[in-house]
Amino acid sequence: MPKRNIIIYPGSFDPPTNGHLDLITRASELFDELVVAVLRHNSKKALFPVEERLEMIREASTHLPNVTVDSFDGLLVDYARRKNARFILRGIRAVSDYEYELQMALMNRKLDPHIETVFMLPAETYSYLSSKLVKEVLGLGGDVHDLVPPLVEARLKAKKPALS
Ligand code: PNS
Repeated sequence: MPKRNIIIYPGSFDPPTNGHLDLITRASELFDELVVAVLRHNSKKALFPVEERLEMIREASTHLPNVTVDSFDGLLVDYARRKNARFILRGIRAVSDYEYELQMALMNRKLDPHIETVFMLPAETYSYLSSKLVKEVLGLGGDVHDLVPPLVEARLKAKKPALS
């Protein structure tokens, strides 16, 4: 049987944005399987509990049959090995992302030289978009309608008191 190309898309996804969804869609067309993996123990203080983030990504990607959603703890390369994945997906929006992403990719390569990090560009329309800014804009009364899937917008609005 030919080898299936499995790619892990790790991140905080707090919350998932249209930029994340754009990348998930692009990568799902290139790889046999895509596993979106939410980091469980993150030093960043999260707005949404992990389970809710998993639910939101699942709901927003139900139309993509080769996409699954999971959470992980510990080293990303260990998780990738457990999933038989040879690839890690990260999005690069602008040059400012590059330094951090380069460091992570090279550290992951040092930890496991067989796992390759693949960088993809989201649509230009989302090149300024981040989960952090979405939360800030909403907290200050701005409109995030075009920035996140409708199901995420609804859940974000319910969390608004925690953001203001
Ligand atoms: O969306 P984020 O917060 O930029 O994602 C960061 C993430 C989850 C990809 C990164 O923190 C990670 O891979 N953490 C797992 C721990 C790990 O493997 N660290 C060593 C490699 S840098």
